[in-house]
Amino acid sequence: MKILGIETSCDETAAAIVEDGSKILSNVVVSQIDIFAEYGGVIPEVAARSHLEVMMPVVQKALEDAKCTWSDIDAIAVTYAPGLLGSLLIGTLTARTLAILHDKPLYAVHHLKSHVYANWLEVEMPKNVHSRPSCEDASKKSEALPVTTGERERVENGPFLTFPLLALVISGGHTQILYMPAHNKFEIIGTTHDDAVGECFDKVAKILGLPYPGGPSIAKAATNGDENKYKLPHPKVDNLDFSFSGLKTAVLRAVQKELGLPISHPSHDLKNHLSEQQVADFAASFQKTAIDILLEKLEKAREQHPEVKSIVFAGGVSANQKLREMAGHSLQKNLPVFFPEAKFSGDNGAMVAAAAYYEIQSGIEPTNPYKLNIYPRIEITC
Ligand code: KG4
Ligand code: ZN
Repeated sequence: MKILGIETSCDETAAAIVEDGSKILSNVVVSQIDIFAEYGGVIPEVAARSHLEVMMPVVQKALEDAKCTWSDIDAIAVTYAPGLLGSLLIGTLTARTLAILHDKPLYAVHHLKSHVYANWLEVEMPKNVHSRPSCEDASKKSEALPVTTGERERVENGPFLTFPLLALVISGGHTQILYMPAHNKFEIIGTTHDDAVGECFDKVAKILGLPYPGGPSIAKAATNGDENKYKLPHPKVDNLDFSFSGLKTAVLRAVQKELGLPISHPSHDLKNHLSEQQVADFAASFQKTAIDILLEKLEKAREQHPEVKSIVFAGGVSANQKLREMAGHSLQKNLPVFFPEAKFSGDNGAMVAAAAYYEIQSGIEPTNPYKLNIYPRIEITC
């Protein structure tokens, strides 16, 4: 089954064709990062216009790269929620029109579900590697097992990514722990009270004068920094919930203190006073603290759900290399831990197609292309 997945929830215009929920036949992503780097963040109206300009060429390229014609496509899937209103509109209107025009079933997919299903996408094997580790090998070497990616259910000796599982979804708009007893079943067991962790990376990057998007800039600056240089607080939030706005303010206060400036000194001016080494040390200390907070909560969730058999990470922040290393050390001892291939951590159409495939397998009916609506803020439902 070949599904065309379309994603335009924020500032990436993306389309991909995926076979049977995992085999990537094409994956086209046009990012608007260059446009928004100038402004230091996304401007929703500009994002919508940019989607409109490239949407159809992106779909066309996805078909060409996959060597498919419309007659090869079995279904169309599109992100309908959550995200920027204008951006969601362009993707859904495109998908609705194409579904009607080419008489294809249309599936409306929640963005966080797509991020989780990026973990089922096939892994590109390095050129010198010819076979995957078997399930048995993996369990034997669980201590040393590297954090793994992709196509879990197709590993030679049977299921590897097994339910029930915990998914940590960490993106620019969300920070949630999801409990997944089976395909397409989600329960939100932890969520943020204020900022998302990706948003926090972006805001701290601004304070430090690092370019948008903040996540990759902080990760890069942190490689030359001392992660123990500045002590930053962990928020006191009950249960499995998160709060990241206090961490951003803590970085701001620590920078003001380090520079000997009053707390009234504007955050946008601080970068002019910081040395490269100070920026690196703040980036490293912040990154380490943010990751510690995420992993502590995930560990708590695992203790509360001893029946869980695997943990998956999802969303733009899951591209973070330090997080991958630290999760490997702390959680991997107990359970297999999975990350999407880094290029599928961020927004893309392949994960939308993968999620729709498992919706179809679960018996979910296609949506009406004449009526599909968008929902900028709706929660994931099972
Ligand atoms: O999933 P995503 O591409 O879009 C949303 O659904 O929001 O996530 C974007 C977020 C941004 O906040 C970005 O700074 C963050 O993911 N991000 C990272 C890294 N790459 C992207 N955060 C930390 N480390 C990274 N390497
Ligand atoms: Zn996303």
